[in-house]
Amino acid sequence: MIKMNEDLTLIGMEKGRQYETIISTKNEDGSKNAAPIGVIYAGNDKIIIRIFKGSHTLDNIIREKEFIVNITHDPELYTISTLGNLPQDYFEDDGSIKCMKAFFKCEVIRLTEAVKQSDPIKKKDEAIVIKAKVTDMTVKEDVHALNRGFGYVIETLANYTRFDIVGDDQKEEYIKKFKEANRVVLKVGTKEDIKSMQIIKKELMKKGYEP
Ligand SMILES: Cc1cc2nc3c(=O)[nH]c(=O)nc-3n(C[C@H](O)[C@H](O)[C@H](O)COP(=O)(O)O)c2cc1C
Repeated sequence: MIKMNEDLTLIGMEKGRQYETIISTKNEDGSKNAAPIGVIYAGNDKIIIRIFKGSHTLDNIIREKEFIVNITHDPELYTISTLGNLPQDYFEDDGSIKCMKAFFKCEVIRLTEAVKQSDPIKKKDEAIVIKAKVTDMTVKEDVHALNRGFGYVIETLANYTRFDIVGDDQKEEYIKKFKEANRVVLKVGTKEDIKSMQIIKKELMKKGYEP
């Protein structure tokens, strides 16, 4: 089934949350490029992405003022497009990546220089925040956009179940991992992910730790 709609809740996106996607763009020579990029759903038909300077994706978006957001859970696609270039035969003629359950096209509304306080890179002009409007969405099969929060909750729970059977050094290691997981979940996770991390935090506090 192909549904055409600009409602990103159809692919499980919640307003204000960040999802991992692969963005495809057109290079200056007409070839296609892909790179994993986090997409924040800004509500209605709007999204926000933040791209560090120096990437082909940013140059292409600034020049073309449009891009495609591909919704996928395929680890190989993320890996190949992060470490190098996705070969041209991975792309459809319309610029989307082949075999996507869902993808949507976007047009740039606004480009702003920005860097967040939490970034390890502090120089003011390292990143560009792009606000864009979804112009066309294709959903071929039911799929939820990838959110990093759930993986962290599961990982934290797995560590929690081992907490009482490991030594003190490993316990400290788990507390460190909890802190990092909680940081990411607070930033990108769903309400349910955040609630779960709070529940685990309380249990760790009952054991005398300050996660
Ligand atoms: C899961 C994931 C999410 C990413 N999100 C972003 C992002 O939001 N912004 C960004 O600038 N880079 C992000 N990156 C890094 C870029 O994908 C990476 O720098 C890529 O090599 C850029 O490729 P390009 O030069 O072809 O655009 C992300 C990487 C991964 C693996």
